[in-house]
Amino acid sequence: RQDRAIRPVKLSDYIGQPVVREQMELFVSAARNRSEALDHTLIFGPPGLGKTTLAHIIANEMGVNLKQTSGPVLERPGDLAALLTNLEPNDVLFVDEIHRLSPVVEEVLYPAMEDYQIDIMIGEGPAARSIKLDLEPFTLVGATTRAGSLTSPLRDRFGIVQRLEFYNTEDLSTIVQRSARILGVSLEVGGSHEIARRSRGTPRIANRLLRRVRDFAEVRFDGAVTAEVARQALDLLDVDNYGFDMLDRKLLLAIIEKFSGGPVGLDNLAAAIGEERGTIEDVIEPFLIQEGFIMRTPRGRVATRRAWLHLGLTPTLELDGQ
Ligand code: ADE
Repeated sequence: RQDRAIRPVKLSDYIGQPVVREQMELFVSAARNRSEALDHTLIFGPPGLGKTTLAHIIANEMGVNLKQTSGPVLERPGDLAALLTNLEPNDVLFVDEIHRLSPVVEEVLYPAMEDYQIDIMIGEGPAARSIKLDLEPFTLVGATTRAGSLTSPLRDRFGIVQRLEFYNTEDLSTIVQRSARILGVSLEVGGSHEIARRSRGTPRIANRLLRRVRDFAEVRFDGAVTAEVARQALDLLDVDNYGFDMLDRKLLLAIIEKFSGGPVGLDNLAAAIGEERGTIEDVIEPFLIQEGFIMRTPRGRVATRRAWLHLGLTPTLELDGQ
């Protein structure tokens, strides 16, 4: 993987997400002008939309270091304390999957975020005592696929909250063209449009498909990615005309064939397709919901008319309101 080569490092290279970009440009300049740490920033949205990329850009634009960790890696309060006490003034601490922090670690984070202080326990039993340590000012950048799973005391301590949206085809096409330029791939506009259109609104998928389409173009053709070459490669890769992959189709087919179109509860659906419920909720569903192929109802997931038609099936049930 050469992800680092194609990752943008400046806000001006960050394509799409215009609201996020404009706001972050403003907040970063203001903090820089005051020589202060940027306010703590929460970034949320489905996987692959550039949360980690944005965290690195923020540190780079602030001209500070970034230390990276993730919720599940921080097992004990001391793990977090070790990171916090090693920061230089205004550094960024990036915590990925911040919704998976354990409650005891989260407790350490509150005074750290609020007052740049931590309380740590030294020793055990009757001799144990707690000491307060002052920290350098810092910016916590937290990333999560589910803003809804953060506790409210944690969520309330972020002064900046950014939600990343799925990208439209035009922005994805620009991202793929930029990547192709960096990787030295000969990519025609029609080729980039075809890849962009079939990437589930997600830059990580678009960049991965670009690499696979390049392989195809080099082995079967002369290396140039035209619209037709991209189309053939994506068909071979089992990416369908809407950009749905095998997992997407498996989910839609399960709702329709095993549960008569739904509603079906998340646990039953997870068992039926052999995936974890978290994968369904965070990775598969958001795009299918946004594109109107499934609905979340109080009684479970329902495949819409569009889903049946997309799979070449005739809806057999009355679908409410469609
Ligand atoms: N890679 C991931 N997200 C990106 C973006 N918004 N712009 C350019 N490249 C990206």
